[in-house]
Amino acid sequence: MAKVLLLVALVVFYVNGSYAKVAPDYIVPCKGHTPECLKKTIQEVIPLFVKGVPSLDIDVIDPLKHDYVAVELPGGFKVELFDGTVTGFRKCIVDSVSYNDGEANLDFHCNVTIKGKYKAKGQILVVAINGDGDAKIRIGGAAITSKIKFHDVERDGVIYHEVKSYDIKYKIEDKVTFALTNLFQGNPELSQTVLQFLNENWKQLVDEFGKPIFDKIVEIAYSKIGKFFEKIPKSELFD
Ligand SMILES: *[C@@H]1O[C@H](CO)[C@@H](O)[C@H](O)[C@H]1NC(C)=O
Repeated sequence: MAKVLLLVALVVFYVNGSYAKVAPDYIVPCKGHTPECLKKTIQEVIPLFVKGVPSLDIDVIDPLKHDYVAVELPGGFKVELFDGTVTGFRKCIVDSVSYNDGEANLDFHCNVTIKGKYKAKGQILVVAINGDGDAKIRIGGAAITSKIKFHDVERDGVIYHEVKSYDIKYKIEDKVTFALTNLFQGNPELSQTVLQFLNENWKQLVDEFGKPIFDKIVEIAYSKIGKFFEKIPKSELFD
């Protein structure tokens, strides 16, 4: 009798164990990883995935929230962002995806808006800024090219396909618009003039200062997205 119970327990455990899916239901692996299937699947998954996966402790990605970020820009210009949010990822459009031998290439484009309270000090282009106010920066037509390398990692007998390294680049295909208050503390007229100057010279600003800011956003987003591959077994994600 005890043996039978043990057997039943083992069977139940085994069946449960083998069917207990970790991934959210909307994750369906693509057979053969064809670019068409990957593109369609990733496009469909984005608006759901950006809401986060509480059961896996994966945070919300749109809005992407961060209490405090400080970025030191070339030339000693320092920007701090408090209660920052980045929105827009849910509407990203996937342009192409490929996956071969542990290497993925993913190209997509989106409009992204960064908001928060900012402090900024230093020389930017030809103006000296000493600002403390509200910031809203709209990045229109950000075209993002990413190359992601995966590797297999085994934990407790389960194989995960984790991100080993990534190389992410961007290009602005539309434009960047700044709405910043109090760029020049206590001088609204000058603040307005400087703001207009920044908007007229957005391209030069992006060339000069875009990369460290972009890299910071990628780092924050990645710290959340990377968990996905650390928590969901390879067999549930890759055919
Ligand atoms: C970005 O915004 C523009 C309008 O400003 C719109 O035409 C375009 O479709 C948007 N792109 C995406 C990927 O949402």
